[in-house]
Amino acid sequence: MSERLALYKGKSKTVYDIGKPSELLVEFRNDATGGNGAKHAVLEEKGRVNCAFDAFIMAMLAENGIKTHWLKKVSDTEIVVRRLDMLPIECIVRNRAAGGICKRLGIERGRVFAPPIFEFFLKDDSLGDPIITEDHIFMMQLASKENLASMKVLTHRVNNILKPFFAKAGFDLVDFKLEFGYYQGELLLGDEFTLDGCRLWDIQSGEIYDKDRFRLDLGDVIQFYKKASTRLGIL
Ligand SMILES: Nc1ncnc2c1ncn2[C@@H]1O[C@H](COP(=O)(O)OP(=O)(O)O)[C@@H](O)[C@H]1O
Ligand SMILES: [Mg+2]
Repeated sequence: MSERLALYKGKSKTVYDIGKPSELLVEFRNDATGGNGAKHAVLEEKGRVNCAFDAFIMAMLAENGIKTHWLKKVSDTEIVVRRLDMLPIECIVRNRAAGGICKRLGIERGRVFAPPIFEFFLKDDSLGDPIITEDHIFMMQLASKENLASMKVLTHRVNNILKPFFAKAGFDLVDFKLEFGYYQGELLLGDEFTLDGCRLWDIQSGEIYDKDRFRLDLGDVIQFYKKASTRLGIL
C-alpha cells in the first residue's frame, strides 16, 4: 500500500485513508483493552487472529445476505473496507446473561434469554458507553426510526446466522456487539466481528473463549482465540 494517513487510532484498530474517497484501510493491532480503556495490554498475534476471524465472519454474513463494509484482506492484519459514516450506536444481542446486564438488572449469569434480548448503547468512551433507549437516540438525532428498526432487524438476523454456526463447533454464542454506518444512503454493517466483541462459551464445559479471558484475568487469551478459530475452521 503506497500512501496512507492514519485518520483514527481506536482502542484496538487503526483506520487509514488510502487516497480513495469511498474506501478505508483498517489495521487490527495487538492492543487489548478492558473496562473502557482502563486496562490495557499488548497481546502477541492478536491483530492477526482477529483479522482472520473478522474476515471469515464478514464473508459468511455477506454470503447470507447481510450487507457489510468488508471488501478484502490485504495482509495478515489489514483489511480494506467501504468508508462508512458510522452511527455512534452499539447494537447488542444477548442469548444468555453475562457481563453488564447481570450487574444492571441483578440477573444470574448464564440465564437463557428466549427470545434474545436487544439493547442499544451510546458509543462514547467519555460517558462509559451507556445503555440508551430509542427515545434518547431520537432526542440526540442520531438516527431515524426506520434506521433504528433496520439495525435491530439486522442484528437479530446476524444472530440467527451466527448462533447455529458457532453451535455446530460446540460453542454457545452468548452475546455480541455490532456497529453500523451509512454508505451512499444505505445502512451497512461496519466495524468488526471478533472475539473482542462477543462472548463465546464452550457448550459442554462453559469455558470462556472470548475477551472475558482478558477482562477477568483468566490468562491464555490469544491461545483461546486461536483454539476457537481452529475449531471453527478459521485458522
Ligand atoms: N467502515 C468503516 N468506516 C468508517 N469508520 C469505521 C468503519 N468500520 C469501523 N469504523 C470505526 O473505526 C474505529 C475502529 O477502531 P476501534 O479500535 O474499534 O475504535 P474504538 O476504540 O473507537 O472502538 C471505530 O471507531 C469504528 O466505529
Ligand atoms: Mg471498537
